[in-house]
Amino acid sequence: MLYPGLKGVVAVETLISEIDGNKGKLYYRGYDILDITKSYSFEETAYLLWYGTFPTIDQLNELKSALILHRFLPSHIEKLICLLPKDMDLMSVIRTAVSAEGNSSYGWKPTVSQAIKLTAMIPTIIAFRKRFLEGKTLIHPLNNGSHLENYLYMLNGDKPVEAHIEALETYMILTMEHGMNASTFSARVTASTESELASAITSAIGTMKGPLHGGAPSEVIDLLNEVYTAGDVETVIRAKLSNGEKLMGFGHRVYKTHDPRSVSLKSKLMELNGEDPWLDLSIQVEEAAVNLLQEFKPGRALYTNVEFYAAAIMKAIQMEPTLFTPTFTASRIVGWSAHVIEQAENNVLFRPQSNYIGMIKERGRV
Ligand code: ACO
Repeated sequence: MLYPGLKGVVAVETLISEIDGNKGKLYYRGYDILDITKSYSFEETAYLLWYGTFPTIDQLNELKSALILHRFLPSHIEKLICLLPKDMDLMSVIRTAVSAEGNSSYGWKPTVSQAIKLTAMIPTIIAFRKRFLEGKTLIHPLNNGSHLENYLYMLNGDKPVEAHIEALETYMILTMEHGMNASTFSARVTASTESELASAITSAIGTMKGPLHGGAPSEVIDLLNEVYTAGDVETVIRAKLSNGEKLMGFGHRVYKTHDPRSVSLKSKLMELNGEDPWLDLSIQVEEAAVNLLQEFKPGRALYTNVEFYAAAIMKAIQMEPTLFTPTFTASRIVGWSAHVIEQAENNVLFRPQSNYIGMIKERGRV
């Protein structure tokens, strides 16, 4: 049997998350993601994904202290970030920095402490590189404050607005984990060879950066800009679909109804920015696209995915498009590392097969 893209193939059993693609539900360790975003922080949700339970106050404080401790980059990583070619995209910089962090302390098996360290480092890598390229003063991480307050602070140098921290927190909790998506699969494949956590995360970052996966939100902004410039939503979208193009921010391999993360981000965006022109534009694009997708792809159930309103929410909190996929990476590292740790608990090497469809030839060089 051939399963292109491994569609429909179940490769592992997991206790980490469950996606009900028909009902549009996502659960982390059995808890509905929409309930989690209402009551829990980034740190508490990360703890839940790593350990399987929400933390006690002491456990939470311990986790927060560890995240603060590892916000400070080792000096060789700081130097490396400055040495990398200026035209290297930010995802490749993160991938290279994480790879360079993979020293001998990351032996088999992977641990939560290693996961905390890498999770703590990624926002600093992003902010450090961005400010370095802009020729701005580098901002040292805070010695206190939440993970996301510190991230926004390191990017901009000012105390962030509370509503922006909250919006970012909702986005990052919603995108922390999502079953056997391409990047998580990639991390688990690498871990299945008994390679260490930093290598598994390096593989995942390389997979995340493609436009069919984590690279979509900045392309959603391109779509919104195009519609804004043309001033006619339907014409732009119809032309794209007639050309056989895919609409970025629409469709999903697993959800065959609304993506709950997109629904939640849309309502957060409405709370944050009721009158924002980008919100209006996003809603118009969503409505037109969903109708036209029904016309061009009848019976396919194509709606917005998480990337669509992620783009609008990032814009609302003044994140530049180049930071979208890196910020997604800063949240998804939690899910990746939880999966790598789970893979190591009961490891089976991934080794599918391929069907050779060429000819068998009699001899090579004469
Ligand atoms: N625009 C137009 N048509 C689409 C779209 C889209 N966004 N998504 C799917 N379709 C069409 C396909 O062309 C296909 O048509 P066909 O049957 O006539 O060939 C049909 O709908 C089924 O789609 P598949 O490609 O089989 O769906 P698949 O599960 O393989 O793809 C994917 C899912 C890759 C996300 C796809 O919907 C897509 O490319 N979307 C745009 C990119 C995007 O938004 N990516 C972010 C995904 S969310 C994330 O990774 C965090």
